[in-house]
Amino acid sequence: MNRIWNSRFAKPAVFLLCLLPLAVLVWRWQTNELGINRIETVARYTGNWTLRFLLLSLSITPLRRLSGQTGLIRFRRMIGLFAFFHGCLHALHYYAIDVQWNLEIMKEDLTTRRFFIAGMTALALMVPLAATSFNAAIRWMGGKRWQLLHRLAYVSAAAGVIHFFWQGKAALWTPIYYGIFLGILMAYRAGWWWVHRTTS
Ligand code: HEM
Repeated sequence: MNRIWNSRFAKPAVFLLCLLPLAVLVWRWQTNELGINRIETVARYTGNWTLRFLLLSLSITPLRRLSGQTGLIRFRRMIGLFAFFHGCLHALHYYAIDVQWNLEIMKEDLTTRRFFIAGMTALALMVPLAATSFNAAIRWMGGKRWQLLHRLAYVSAAAGVIHFFWQGKAALWTPIYYGIFLGILMAYRAGWWWVHRTTS
């Protein structure tokens, strides 16, 4: 299996696969299949995909260690960047289409509504991760510091789950499922650190 992950076709294939949710959204937009409340559908769709990509990128390391599929690491950065891309799309759609850059609404959202504060926190935390996702940044920062910074991905995902939870409209259970999944990933990470704390 590792041969597949390491083949030169694997990255382009995963890239195309990651583009699929956006392609489906564009298709549904073009064919008017987004329902009566198009704005809400797009906001929910892009929000969900941001969180899914983020959680998927955080799952790569445990998956790699548990399965021995070391080649999976090649896709972590790409999937993380897809999370950031969808997060930007999600926020841009809200500001440009939903509130149409109305500064009063934007200011009120970000100062008084905890739902928006959590969403903005989740997105803001992804910025340094995306900005340091290049090999040159890893060399410049040093592996240890880079790894420490990239733990922010967990905090960003937690803020994303809280943002979803505080939305209040959707089915209560979906953010809880996301939260449980994130909790398992964090517990795995903490367990790994505990077991290897003397050797690292
Ligand atoms: C500036 C940043 C952000 C803004 C302004 C924002 C805004 C919104 C809005 C307007 C909605 C739709 C609420 C409705 O149902 O009407 C929403 C839903 C959602 N957002 Fe965000 N968001 C931001 C960042 C994020 C980030 C970074 C994530 C993920 C890490 C995220 C995940 C979600 C999820 C999962 C939903 C709910 C989807 C559903 O109902 O199924 N958001 N957000």
